[in-house]
Amino acid sequence: DKVTWQVQDAELGDYAHFMEKEIFEQPQALENAMRGRFAEDGSTANFGGLNLSANELRATSRLMFCACGTAMFAGLVTEHLVERFARIPVECDHASEFRYRNTPLFSNTLFFVISQSGETIDTLAAMREAQRKGFKVLAINNVVGSTIAREADGGIYQHAGPEIGVASTKAFTSQLMIGAMLALYLGRIRDMSFRDGVEIVKALKAAPDLVREALQQADHIKQIAQRYAQVSDMLFLGRLELFPIAAEGALKLKEISYIHAEAYPAAEMKHGPIALINADCPSVFLVPNNELFNKVVSSMQEIKARGGPIIAITTDDADLPEGLADDVITIPACHEAVLPIVATIPLQLFSYYVAVERGCDVDKPRNLAKSVTVE
Ligand code: G6P
Repeated sequence: DKVTWQVQDAELGDYAHFMEKEIFEQPQALENAMRGRFAEDGSTANFGGLNLSANELRATSRLMFCACGTAMFAGLVTEHLVERFARIPVECDHASEFRYRNTPLFSNTLFFVISQSGETIDTLAAMREAQRKGFKVLAINNVVGSTIAREADGGIYQHAGPEIGVASTKAFTSQLMIGAMLALYLGRIRDMSFRDGVEIVKALKAAPDLVREALQQADHIKQIAQRYAQVSDMLFLGRLELFPIAAEGALKLKEISYIHAEAYPAAEMKHGPIALINADCPSVFLVPNNELFNKVVSSMQEIKARGGPIIAITTDDADLPEGLADDVITIPACHEAVLPIVATIPLQLFSYYVAVERGCDVDKPRNLAKSVTVE
């Protein structure tokens, strides 16, 4: 197995925590995920290690993703993009559930596991179960030479560099990037046009700079985080491919600050969770300027009418009604393939600064391990 990182990668340098360092390393990690992986004509992605022909991939009638924790949310975002760009139905499941639920699988299902460490036992077991049934399994994985990488039938390395903080940050956005590239690749061997492919490649290449721009909000987000650091419950709301991003925002907050947080698709609020809303239960809304903007704004109005504080994460081309949100964090407007990546940045920074403010051990949160190797 080759060593792919240097000793200085494992040192903190000017950062207070590995989590902070790894949040700021994301532009580079995204560049590494893309390096050498776009076709010369600029209209699609290429992966060297899938070990499947374009013909075999074309014959796929379904994709299945299994993963745990943060990696599963990357699978859920990828589900949206693959269905939209390639029109292939996708299922994404908790690896721990998949092997016991006896789901019927079509023989031309393309199987993926996603794992930063490549050592998560639930993910490994899901992979082995699919292989036992005769499926080839591909792995999206960061650690070169990991157990999952060795046992997989092919895959895509993330090249994000070592991730030391227990809470996953750069590995997650790198998985989102690879998921978007995979959706593009599968789209282009099916019905996606050259023109649409070129547009997506351009959008993906812009992602590192857009993330750099989003990272410039750090001080603003820190001030907001300090004001909310003492709450005990929070809600995270987003729609479509931003719902799994909301879920990842809630997971980050739980993991490192021990604040109870839940995520819902914004319109589900009225079916139960809205009962939780009061002045002590803030909501974080992901509200980009897209086709559901007005719907999300009306969900925000329902929360405001019940006295719930609101933090809005919106794009710089959106026209949020004045005074609707108590705090606004603005990210650059971008392509739908990149939006989940850019929208993740303020959520990571928010949970990081909340945890620091609460004096939590950010890099080694209680009860958690970087990779869970027991069932
Ligand atoms: C652990 C970590 C999570 C991580 C999950 C999956 O539970 O605490 O942060 O998302 O494992 O890890 P993997 O290495 O398989 O991506």
